Amino acid sequence: MEKVHVNLNYSKYFSYDILIDHNFVDNELRGIANYNRAHLVVDKNVCELYNSFFVGDIFILNSSEHNKNLNTVYEILNFMKNRKALRNDTLFAVGGGIVGDVAGFAASIYMRGINFIQVPTTLLSMVDSSVGGKTGVNLGDVKNLVGSFYQPKKVLIDTLFLTTLPEDEFKSGLAEVIKYALLFDKDLYEFLISNKTDVVKRREDVIIKIIKRCCELKAKVVEEDETEQGIRKLLNLGHTFGHAIEVDSDHEIKHGIAVAKGIYLEALFAYEKGMIGKNVLDDIEKIFEIYDYDLNYQVRDFTLFINAIGSDKKAMSSGIVLALTSDVGSGIIKSGIDLDSIKKFFEGARWMRPQ
Ligand SMILES: NC(=O)c1ccc[n+]([C@@H]2O[C@H](COP(=O)([O-])OP(=O)(O)OC[C@H]3O[C@@H](n4cnc5c(N)ncnc54)[C@H](O)[C@@H]3O)[C@@H](O)[C@H]2O)c1
Repeated sequence: MEKVHVNLNYSKYFSYDILIDHNFVDNELRGIANYNRAHLVVDKNVCELYNSFFVGDIFILNSSEHNKNLNTVYEILNFMKNRKALRNDTLFAVGGGIVGDVAGFAASIYMRGINFIQVPTTLLSMVDSSVGGKTGVNLGDVKNLVGSFYQPKKVLIDTLFLTTLPEDEFKSGLAEVIKYALLFDKDLYEFLISNKTDVVKRREDVIIKIIKRCCELKAKVVEEDETEQGIRKLLNLGHTFGHAIEVDSDHEIKHGIAVAKGIYLEALFAYEKGMIGKNVLDDIEKIFEIYDYDLNYQVRDFTLFINAIGSDKKAMSSGIVLALTSDVGSGIIKSGIDLDSIKKFFEGARWMRPQ
């Protein structure tokens, strides 16, 4: 079993382990909902695919961005209340990023915070969303507007779940892996370029290596800047345009796929503004091309799209903040970007990737 420790300096109590292995979580989960002190929120598809794991009274969540809202949080809180959950009880989130974000938020406010364990079942949630303590829900058409920083007590990553993950969901998660490589790790970038066949085949040792590396990178960032005052902002690479793409496409485009498009379009914007060099833009295109990502995006509702960029919670009163890559493995933050310049960039035919 691989282990990554997230060491939060201010308190050992809030530090935690990420455990990574193949086929171990069944033992941890089977029948656990029958104990009074454990409560489970489980993704609907995961529940059906792995039904022997989930005996007893559990909360089943139909994961969709449209259900990632305060109503679902309210339902989870009621579920906990009906089960007479107490303050030292534990809530398990078993599913992708949606289950983790929503259940994590519920755990953070039920009785002012109860124990919370993440059991991520998508690649995206294994490499990114289950680690670091960001929880939350969408409010109207603004992504993740309501939420909290609330660290899990443990993260259990079982790659068995990836054996049933659909291809498009795997690709969505892989975009976040590429994000980590572009921001922090040139070796990971080269590894992804040279090992495409094994990566897409999900060869177990290769996938565990990638997940572990991403968790190490995220742990380091979170240890340094838990509440996103500085370096953690880098993890928003591709997310400012990406969130707008998610909203404008009414969430037809999956989070990671929107992030891939966002990474490319933000880089194209930054290149045109002289913020980054052509070599970086080429490196970004190269890796996404190798993994067959479609980087085009045709904006549907221009006003909605631009407003989504303007109302991004990463925006400051002084302008839009973009995370960028200045070179493969080196992330930078550019702040004070004028929304009008982004509007001009997307006007006319500029939303299409130049051929
Ligand atoms: N908190 C954070 O730091 C953070 C970081 C990145 C993304 N996010 C959020 O994560 C969400 C996206 O998460 P996601 O990509 O995991 O999507 P998701 O949770 O919607 O899951 C994607 C789909 O995969 C299915 N699924 C899950 N596990 C499966 C399995 N093992 N086998 C078969 N099907 C399975 C689900 O039922 C769902 O249909 C977005 O809402 C995004 O905003 C949060």
